[in-house]
This record gives sequence, structure tokens and C-alpha cells, in this order.
Amino acid sequence: MTAEVRVVGRKRYLYIDARDWPTGASVADYPEAMFRVVAELMKQDADVVVVTDVYDHVYDEGATDVLREIAQAAKMLRSEGFWSFSVVEKIGKGCDRVLRNENVWVVRTSHDLWMSDPMKAYIEVLKKIREVREKKKAVPERLKECFERYEKVLLKMKTIMDATKVIAKTREYMLQMKELPTGRGIYRTLLPVQIKPAFLGSGIITGLAEELELVDSYTLEGGVEVLIYQDPSSVEMLYYLQAPEFTLPPDHYFVLEKAKELVAKYTPASSLLTSRSFARKQFEEMYRSTVVDVARRFKVSLSGEEVELISSILARYTVGYGILELFFLDRKITDIYLDAPLGTKPIYIVHSQYGQCRTNIVYSEEEARNFISKLRSMSGRPFDEAHPVLDYDLPDLHVRVAVIGPPLSPDGIAFAFRLLQPTPWTLPQFISVRMLNPLAAGFLSFLVDSQATMLISGSRGAGKTSLMTSLILEIPQNQRILVQEDTLEIPVEEMRKVGFHIQRLKTRSPIGGGSAGELPPEDALRTALRLGDSAIVIGEVRSREALVLYEAMRVGAAGNVVMGTIHGDSAYSVWDRVVNDLGVPTTSFKATDIVVVNAPIRFAGSLKRHRRTVSITEVLKHWKSDPYEEGGFLDLMLYSADADELQLMEDNVRNSELLAKISRLRGIGYEEIWKEIRARADEKEMVVRLADEFNVPELMEARYYVPVHNRFLLLKERYLEEFGEVDYGKLLKELEDWTKETIVRGILAGKGKE
Ligand SMILES: Nc1ncnc2c1ncn2[C@@H]1O[C@H](COP(=O)(O)OP(=O)(O)OP(=O)(O)O)[C@@H](O)[C@H]1O
Ligand SMILES: [Mg+2]
Repeated sequence: MTAEVRVVGRKRYLYIDARDWPTGASVADYPEAMFRVVAELMKQDADVVVVTDVYDHVYDEGATDVLREIAQAAKMLRSEGFWSFSVVEKIGKGCDRVLRNENVWVVRTSHDLWMSDPMKAYIEVLKKIREVREKKKAVPERLKECFERYEKVLLKMKTIMDATKVIAKTREYMLQMKELPTGRGIYRTLLPVQIKPAFLGSGIITGLAEELELVDSYTLEGGVEVLIYQDPSSVEMLYYLQAPEFTLPPDHYFVLEKAKELVAKYTPASSLLTSRSFARKQFEEMYRSTVVDVARRFKVSLSGEEVELISSILARYTVGYGILELFFLDRKITDIYLDAPLGTKPIYIVHSQYGQCRTNIVYSEEEARNFISKLRSMSGRPFDEAHPVLDYDLPDLHVRVAVIGPPLSPDGIAFAFRLLQPTPWTLPQFISVRMLNPLAAGFLSFLVDSQATMLISGSRGAGKTSLMTSLILEIPQNQRILVQEDTLEIPVEEMRKVGFHIQRLKTRSPIGGGSAGELPPEDALRTALRLGDSAIVIGEVRSREALVLYEAMRVGAAGNVVMGTIHGDSAYSVWDRVVNDLGVPTTSFKATDIVVVNAPIRFAGSLKRHRRTVSITEVLKHWKSDPYEEGGFLDLMLYSADADELQLMEDNVRNSELLAKISRLRGIGYEEIWKEIRARADEKEMVVRLADEFNVPELMEARYYVPVHNRFLLLKERYLEEFGEVDYGKLLKELEDWTKETIVRGILAGKGKE
């Protein structure tokens, strides 16, 4: 038997290999297993015991404490030496004859029996004491002393045993129920165990403290349950994933493990198929028959559902992404962080409702290595000491992963996953979560339609890409759109489905190398500009494409709308980044019309962060070198924390050069402009209101909102043609009726059929 102590953090883990034990590894179930574990604990001390066969049996600190006490008592019982032959002989003349067999009994009870079934050993001792007292009365005077001495030995044994938790519990039971339950069931309650397949690697963190308060729970696709707890002693919430692989009964694990050994032979090590692909389904199919075979061979009876479950777990851990796949199912998660060193800390996630949460899952280094090798073969990119960064989009899953390794991350490999929204955000949706108010939405919509050049900025995860996506939806559909990205985040597919003409360009990532054939972003952009008149959307402006872009904008070659996201927390820091980091000449920056800034706002007294658009700023054109010092920024809307919304800076707006220019180009007056902005605001507000009124949140999704907005533009055209001007009051009334009659009714009818 091999056993070793490994220190992880401050804890000593005693790993005991139980693969060649004749019995199972469960200490509660098998006397032999308990004996072996206690014997090991007599040799080396530990805080946590892990017994491993096909699965790991993890005895947390509480359970290990119970076992340690048994081991300590066993040592004391031995050192007392009162079972040795000589002791019995020394007790007194003639005692050896009456007590001879007792010697064997004492040895067995205080050693073998105590270490494998302490409760039974204790009961035996109690019985023996009673028996000895009876006998003492019955024997002739000269032998009384023998039994008296023996009784003392037994009482000593009892004292040692009494001091342990396991016996304290036994006494409690005896008092309560007058007799002990038969079998070893009682040990299960004393020695709670976490069982997980050894191959899974990812461990569960056990021991949910009782004071945790359940704040939310929901079920993911496939029936996996998620529980969100508030821990009063911590600022983070706990995200508890009830993964089925951690709660299978042991014999099902056994089948899982055996089946895995078999399928490993015919599953190529590098294959990785997403949870949705056709091939993945085929693998699951194939695994099902293996699972059935294994179960039959080992006489484990499984229902059809159980076979299905085991096969899907098997597929997840062979050709899938393991435990991470379950996290990927939860689209309320926006980010997943696996920090180095792996295996010591739980996985962290960012939840769209609850912010950063600790999870109950630990990702092991071994699992990480597997994942990396799969990533390498899928992406065709290197990942080693010379290339310590790998950026990649996991196919079909709408997940972007960034991996860093040594020497950049000296503590080992670390991962960050971003779960992308498969459908684009819309302005009504942003209004409904208070990211911005209807007026700001109407304003931005108007600016997009007026072909303004916009940079959307903010800190990491502030909602830049999401806001830009919602603004793309405001581009009239008769325009062609070029979307250039290094990681594919913008849900182009969904946008095409609702009628947009989008040409997508994927460029080489400036970090983490790139696969052959991918153009660097500046070359791609030059090509894009030659593809003709289109709106240009740059996923993230972060390297030399900025030069090309600004040059094109300066000479008017960039065509219509130009939009991009960029890191920065104010208009000034965006200018600083563009000019000082990316090397664009400062006067070229004037080609930017508008800088929108998003930020996570933390309200007083709350730990939750809310994303908000905090400013819409115009870049004026009169300054020469530093727009901040020379008054080159004009805030058109600014966030007010008191009101928790963006407020129009009326005086500034009157000085807007951009609005003046639009007014000139379109031949419409200032009044008209504001009528249109307000109408666009009302349009979006109407969608939010109807969604609420008819309980159809879908109405705010792109697939329903875009037709409404198209209708808005159509009606506007029609009014202009017929009357030379637009009566927005009438238009909106007409639009609302139409929306209710066709779209809302359609959604409700669709629901009725379900
Ligand atoms: N107002 C909002 N309310 C709730 N969730 C939001 C909001 N805006 C964006 N999100 C979500 O937050 C996550 C991050 O958003 P997004 O990718 O747009 O941020 P980003 O600023 O572009 O991040 P990065 O700096 O990584 O480029 C996404 O999952 C998105 O769906
Ligand atoms: Mg982004």
C-alpha cells in the first residue's frame, strides 16, 4: 500500500492508494478500509485524508479528525501494553489460568476491532466489564484479585476510548435509542465523504458552512442546478454548481471510470469537439454502448437515463471541455477566471447579476494541461515559454479564452474566459437595465444614423463591445457593414439573420501570435477600405490599425459610419491612448466625433456593480495639440450619480459643432433634430414599455426590435414623402399600434402554441 502526505497551502493531505485493496475504499462501509486508514494515520499525521481507487474519497478536516482520534487512541491502547501475556501472568498466582483467553480478547479488541469498528470494540469492552464484575462475585476469594486487576485494565481501556468523538457519539446513540443500529451506517454520518472520480481531477470544495444564505437558484440546460449563496463573512457570493459527476453513486462512477479506460483507446487524444457539434453527438452515441457493456459486465444495473447521463459525462471529459462546459452553459456568467497556481484556489466567475463569485469547483493542473494541448491543436498556435500567451475563440460556444503561462505567469498556467452573448444587445435592453436612459439611446441612435465617427470606451468588461453592438443595429439596413475583429465577439450571424449586410474580417491577434493566413489588423483594414463604401466597425482598436483608420478618416476615405471600442475611462484617456500609445498624430484624432464612456458604477452601500454609460462627449475641431487644455472636449450628456442617469448638458449641446454640421448637411433645423432624437427615444421606450406590459421581454431582442426600428424608419420616409415633414406624435402612435398588432401578437401566439 502506498500512502504519502502532500502539503497544499497550509493543509496536509494524506493520499492513500486503495487500488489493490480487496475491499472498496470507503472507510465507513468497509472495516478493512477503516483499519488501513487508521493504521496509516498512526504513522503520519494529516489534516485531510484522501483514499483513492477509481474515485477519490475525500475526508475533510472534520472527518479526518475523527479518524485521527481513533489512531491516537489505538497508539495509547498499545503503549499501555496491558494485553501482553506477561501482564496477565504477572497479575497474580493462578490468574493466568482463568485469564488466559482474555489476553487474546484484549489484543483483538483494542487493536484490530478498535481500528476497524471502534463502536463495536467499545460495546465489547462494556460487555466485558459487566461480565468480569459478575465473575468476580462468583469466583473463590483467592482469585477475586485477578478479576479486580483485569477490571482495572478494562476500565482503563474504556477511559481511553471514551475520550474520542466516535465513542462520544456512540454513547449519545445508546442513551437515545437504548441500542445501536446494526451495520456500519452510523459511520457514514460521522465520516462524511466527498466522492469524485479520480480522473476528473477537478475537485469539489466541501463543507458548505451552515450560515450561508441561499439567494438564488436556477437550472441550466441539461438539468444541472446552480445555487447562489451569500456568505456573511465574505464580500463574494458563492456560486455552487451541482455537477452530476460529483454526485453519482459509487458503482456508477466505477462504470464511468472503466468505460473511460476503454474509450481512451479509440478517442484521439487531441480531439476536442464542442458540446454542440454533430461529431460530439456521435461520440456520445458510441460511448453509450460502451457504458451499457461495462455495466453489464460488472453487474451494475443502469436505467436508460443513467446510461445517458454517464455517457454524456464521459464525452464531456474525453472530447469536451470537462467541468468548464457546465459553466459555459450558464450565460448569466460573463467571465470565468482560473488563476495560477491551479488546483489551490476555486474557480472564480463574474455573474451578470451577482458580480464576482467564488465557486465550489477547483480546476486541477492536470486538467489544465489536457486543455492546453487541445487548444494548441485546435488553434494551430504555439503555447510555450517563448509564446506564453494564447488567445482563442472556442468554436461554436461563443466563448473567448485567454491563456497565459510561464514566464509571463510565474506561478503557472492561468485562464480567463469571456462568455459572449450569442445575440446582440439592443438599445431597449440597455434601457431596461438602466445602462442608459431613452434620451441617450435616442441620441446615440440619431448620431449613428447621421454617420458620426464614434469610439466606445470604458474599462475592461464595462460593456463597450455590447454597446457598440447595439449601435450597429441602429445603422440603416441599406448600408453595408464591415466588421473587423481579432477575436470574434460581435454576433454577426444573428445580425445577418435580422437583415444586416455584414462582411466580417478576422485579423491576427496582436497578442498571442496568430495562425497562418490571418492578416495583421492594419493590412486587413487597408483591404477593407478598398472593398468599397461601407460602415466600418473595428472590434477593438488596440494596435497599428489605428494609424490606418485615422489616416483614412482624415482624408475622407473611410466612408460612412466608423465605430470602434477602445480601452480608456474618459474622453481624455482615449485621446491619450490613440495619440501617445498608438501613435496617431494628435490633429488626426479630430476625425473622432464622439467618445462614449462606460463604467461599472458601485452604488453606496452596495457590493454590486452596475454598468452605466457615464458620458457622451464631442471632440471639437479647433484645438491644436492637447484637446483637454484647449477645451477640445464638449460633454453633451453626463452621468449624474444622484439621478442614476445621463443628463443632457443643454448649454453644451447648443454649442455642438457636430449637430450644427448635421443640420447643415441634412438641411434640417435644430428643432427638427431634437424632434427626431426625442422620437427615437420614445420609440425605444415604447418597446421597453410594451415588453413589460405584455410580459414579452423577447420584444426587446434584436429579432423583434429590429423590425420595429425598420418600421420606424419606413414610416419616417413615408411621412417625409407625403407631407414634407414628420409628425412624430402620429408616427409613434402608428408604430405602436403596428407593433402590438403584428409583433407582440405574433410573440404571444407563438407562446400559446408552446
Ligand atoms: N448594462 C449591462 N448589464 C448587464 N450586463 C452587461 C451590460 N453591458 C454588458 N454586459 C455584459 O457584460 C459582459 C462584458 O461586456 P462587453 O464584452 O461588452 O465589455 P467590454 O467592455 O467590451 O469588455 P472588454 O474590455 O473585455 O472588451 C458581457 O457578457 C455583456 O453581455
Ligand atoms: Mg470588448
